[in-house]
Amino acid sequence: MNQLPTVPPSLPITQLDWQKLMPMISRANAALGRYDGLLRSLPNPAVLLSPITTNEAVLSSRIEGTQATLEEVIQQDAGIETPPERYQDLEEVRNYRDALFLAEQTLEHRRLSLSVIKEIHQRLLQGVRGRDKTPGQFRIDQNWIGRPGCTMENARFIPPNPIVLPQALEAWEQYFSNTEEDPVLQITVVHAQFEILHPFKDGNGRIGRMLIPLLLFQRGLLSRPMFYLSEYLEAHRERYYDQLLLITQTGDWQGWIEFFTQAVITQADTNLEKAQHILALYNQLKPQFIDATRSQFAVPALDAFFKRPLINSTDFATFSGIDNRVTANGLLKKLVDQQLIQIFRAGSGRSPSIYMLSKLLNIAEGRKVF
Ligand SMILES: Nc1ncnc2c1ncn2[C@@H]1O[C@H](COP(=O)(O)OP(=O)(O)O)[C@@H](O)[C@H]1O
Ligand SMILES: [Mg+2]
Repeated sequence: MNQLPTVPPSLPITQLDWQKLMPMISRANAALGRYDGLLRSLPNPAVLLSPITTNEAVLSSRIEGTQATLEEVIQQDAGIETPPERYQDLEEVRNYRDALFLAEQTLEHRRLSLSVIKEIHQRLLQGVRGRDKTPGQFRIDQNWIGRPGCTMENARFIPPNPIVLPQALEAWEQYFSNTEEDPVLQITVVHAQFEILHPFKDGNGRIGRMLIPLLLFQRGLLSRPMFYLSEYLEAHRERYYDQLLLITQTGDWQGWIEFFTQAVITQADTNLEKAQHILALYNQLKPQFIDATRSQFAVPALDAFFKRPLINSTDFATFSGIDNRVTANGLLKKLVDQQLIQIFRAGSGRSPSIYMLSKLLNIAEGRKVF
């Protein structure tokens, strides 16, 4: 089959079945509104949602074939040695988390733009695996998607010719900067068009998924850029890819928009529930930590466990702002005695003890792990 590069679809999308779409889009807006209501009520969202953010980094990377698990990332964060065969995967996940963090910070003082996106990409592809993938630069070569090692002739999808890319990217930027379009419809189209343009050599899937919270935040639907969709997309990966392919194969934007809007509706409710559980746990543990320790460091200690549900005693002291080791260890002992936290691994020789907040780990994983 003689395949040609895709011609970029023009934006905005017209000729949609609005009768079918409008109710779905309103439901998605409402679901996001409920989720954001909770987000606004969190005393410290960055701390409380930190395990969920890490989980997003794991799942979004997994869609692209990375094998690392949340448990492994959390263990690495606690200073536990990683098996060498996992090293690159874990670096990729850590990069994802750093890139997301950079993006959140950037959007506090700049608007989303092609140059901001290139900066985020640069951070994502930093290090071993990304080195030869021109981090931070749009491609100047033809690329294609298919089985590993396939030729352009038997590719599944061939993104646009690099010659038309700059113009298509500008049109795309103009579209995502438009404040008139419904935000849910807009991110749905923005994500797909980004994947179709495939402007980077690699990392397009991951950057495209990071854009979801960023744009929803910029459009004011979210009070913070923290809303993650990869759990749904990973669970429906084949459909996700098929719906993307159908856009350029048959012009089926309708099917894509229905799929993505349903993803937002379902995931907003799941995320809301997870965040509610985390908040309830925090509110339950706060007085218990105060009671158990009778210390001015009780709440910083609790926050340390939310930031790092698996944490070694050295990091615990640093994170809680305790500069005396004896004080820190005394506090940890009281928390263990009251069964508020658990010892994950007792220290030996030069390696410090590792403690865990198993209830939070289980909520983040969505199942009982510890
Ligand atoms: N037929 C398709 N048309 C457009 N985009 C697609 C298609 N199939 C898959 N994709 C997108 O391409 C992404 C993979 O691209 P890639 O640059 O390798 O990103 P990453 O390195 O983050 O995996 C997928 O996650 C998906 O979003
Ligand atoms: Mg890839």
